[in-house]
Amino acid sequence: MDSRTLIELERLPFLERLKSKYSWYLNEVESGYLGGREGVGPVDSKMEYKDLHTDEYNEVLVFGSNSYLGMSNDPYVKQKVCEAVEKYGIGSGGSPAFSGYTTEHKKLELRLAKLAGHEDAVLLPGGYMANLCWVSGLMNKNDVIIYDKNSHASVINAIKMTGVPFYTFDPEDMTTLEPIIDRIKARKPDTQIFATVEGVRSVDGAMIDLSSFVEICKRRNIITILDDAHGLGSVGKTGKGTLEHQGLIGQVDLRMSTCSKSLGAQGAFISGSKELIFLLRNFSYPYIFTSGLAQPTIAAINAALDLLEIEKPNRVQVLHENVTYMQDRLEEIGLKIKRGVSGIIPVYLKDGIAQELNKKLYKRGLFANIMEYPMVPPGLERLRLSIMSTHTKKEMDQAIEIIKDVMKEMGVI
Ligand SMILES: Cc1ncc(COP(=O)(O)O)c(C=O)c1O
Repeated sequence: MDSRTLIELERLPFLERLKSKYSWYLNEVESGYLGGREGVGPVDSKMEYKDLHTDEYNEVLVFGSNSYLGMSNDPYVKQKVCEAVEKYGIGSGGSPAFSGYTTEHKKLELRLAKLAGHEDAVLLPGGYMANLCWVSGLMNKNDVIIYDKNSHASVINAIKMTGVPFYTFDPEDMTTLEPIIDRIKARKPDTQIFATVEGVRSVDGAMIDLSSFVEICKRRNIITILDDAHGLGSVGKTGKGTLEHQGLIGQVDLRMSTCSKSLGAQGAFISGSKELIFLLRNFSYPYIFTSGLAQPTIAAINAALDLLEIEKPNRVQVLHENVTYMQDRLEEIGLKIKRGVSGIIPVYLKDGIAQELNKKLYKRGLFANIMEYPMVPPGLERLRLSIMSTHTKKEMDQAIEIIKDVMKEMGVI
């Protein structure tokens, strides 16, 4: 089923929608569906996945993990987690507003706030929740939000749930931002406007020009929020993210990053001024009404941050060397990619071939992700390769050989 048909499906009444989606799923399984992959063992540059059809486990090269720095299976991180389990046990036993907040939570929040150049931070169980947290904690129907047209589903969902009036803009073209601000101000001069962008864009690894965004928003008293889910750990000299890369640490009002990608763990934080974080900590439902992070997760995040601080050579540099190597090799074999500085390399594809390509790559032993609707608009399908600092040269060369063979077979190159 192509993306346009999927859009049509969404318009059906519930029972028809359920039946159509389920029969689509059964058809997909018949034709080698990859969505139900079941991995075994630690997340790393190679993993075993269960074949849905034969129930056998096959080892594949992993070029589709957000664990860009290989922290998920790092011996130091695992040791620190084991020590934390001995010392603190497992779950937090409650929400941070009740019994689920400890000195370890507080210390980590302050460590992350410092990393972001902000006064304070709140920890949440994931980036999705963190985006719900700042949207619903700060905004109501009297405000307006302008959001990056590439924003993550969690931001868009949160906006829908809160009912805050919204506008979208294209952060690739910052000249579109001010006319929107002018339109809003002309109609409602006293409205508080918020504006949000993604740092490293999840769908293609690109980075926007944040300095213009920050400059325009500061001049017009707009409250800025950066979603740097993929930036933390993957860009910036010491891995502090997009703001470090662009020399703008502390220059947005709020910054959200997840700990589930480069830090290899789970959870997320939002950092900002004491006042704004106070508002989230005390009034935002996604923070108040969900359990605090589990202690092993806190230990894993701390250990990954330790490694970012102490390791030489820095893992971020190794990641960048791997990214450059893969970009050069992909271009060498004739593929159209977009060069960026993060761990994500998008390979652009003709409409309608993404699924077939992904199945063929997987059969040959390469696990990568494809971006199709609803992640990207119909017609902009791409293969998204995620590079890790732990990929060896041999693994990268093997991946290139597989990609080359399959792309040739499919007539792409
Ligand atoms: C841009 C962006 N924001 C937020 C999230 C959600 O983060 P998490 O997986 O920690 O919930 C993601 C996840 O992929 C993302 O890409």
